[in-house]
Amino acid sequence: MAIAKPTEPTSCLVFGASGFLGAHVLAAAWNRARRLERAERTRIVGASRVPDAAPHHWRPREAVEFRACDATTDALERALDELRPERIVNAAALSRLADCEREPELAERVNVELPERLARWTARHGARLVHVSTDLVFGARLPTTGGFSEADEPAPVSVYGATKARGEARVRAQDPRALVVRLPLLFGDSGGRALGASDSLVAAVKRGEVPLLFRDEWRTPLDVSNAAEALVELAYGDASGVLHVGGPVRLSRVELGHLVLRAAGKKSAELFQLVRAGTRAEAGLAATRPSDVSLATERALGLLETTLLAPREALARRAAGLFRTIP
Ligand SMILES: NC(=O)c1ccc[n+]([C@@H]2O[C@H](COP(=O)([O-])OP(=O)(O)OC[C@H]3O[C@@H](n4cnc5c(N)ncnc54)[C@H](OP(=O)(O)O)[C@@H]3O)[C@@H](O)[C@H]2O)c1
Repeated sequence: MAIAKPTEPTSCLVFGASGFLGAHVLAAAWNRARRLERAERTRIVGASRVPDAAPHHWRPREAVEFRACDATTDALERALDELRPERIVNAAALSRLADCEREPELAERVNVELPERLARWTARHGARLVHVSTDLVFGARLPTTGGFSEADEPAPVSVYGATKARGEARVRAQDPRALVVRLPLLFGDSGGRALGASDSLVAAVKRGEVPLLFRDEWRTPLDVSNAAEALVELAYGDASGVLHVGGPVRLSRVELGHLVLRAAGKKSAELFQLVRAGTRAEAGLAATRPSDVSLATERALGLLETTLLAPREALARRAAGLFRTIP
């Protein structure tokens, strides 16, 4: 990876800084600066409509600036012109599938036009853009053994996946030096907000619900702070095109759920009472939920110094307090 010289002033703008992933990216950017003893010379800014919405005890508030910006308005270009970031990580999105189905025009503005406008700006100003996308640009077809590679054509089954695929294409058309990073299902610490694949499950179980988890839905999940660390490393590198940053292990949703609940202290014998294992067809969701969007990560493994951890290891590290990006 090309790393900036220690004396070089650096500015990293994280779009979607209040979100599940964006809060970790902000923290990872700060941790990187601190690790390289460049914190005072590094201006790190988090932006979104309500950028400091992450819990107070949890975000690196003394270390970064927050900027309120609704990126569906021309406030976006005004903020960019003012901040002049050298690097942007775009983790802003309309990320919930149901929201995208309900509000496809908003999904178009946030998932397609926002990244396109960021890419137009970075191309014009010679800045670096890492745009976050998703494994759900796939789903209409099954992957070959080993998962989808970057060479596979997107084939989404949802408005969310379709808008994310169009957003990728617009970014690449505007700024050929930009990097589009497709992430898999993310789990990990959401600062008590019940976001992501693990906190949402643990919260539902705590509420006394018995969530249905699919045994025919396959993913290559990754811990959110592990993903954030990789994104920041890539933001300070120069790779372009499309990159799959998936976890090293393919798991069904029910297997992941069991690992999460075991890490949360539940006993193996309890698991089948705490969650139900079923199929997408039984739930009438076979057409709308892709069965397998596993990502093949050979290209990422050749580029990254960040180790992409298997869920079992990430959950164990987190339970032992050894895996924290949030200061
Ligand atoms: N979570 C996953 O499992 C997963 C898996 C694969 C890929 N991804 C990708 O990772 C990225 C982040 O996902 P996430 O789960 O962190 O989503 P999230 O928690 O819903 O966060 C989305 C962020 O976008 C911001 N945002 C939305 N509309 C905006 C607007 N008009 N102007 C400015 N900011 C806006 C939100 O902030 P405000 O509400 O404050 O505006 C929030 O900070 C997305 O690109 C998603 O496709 C996520």
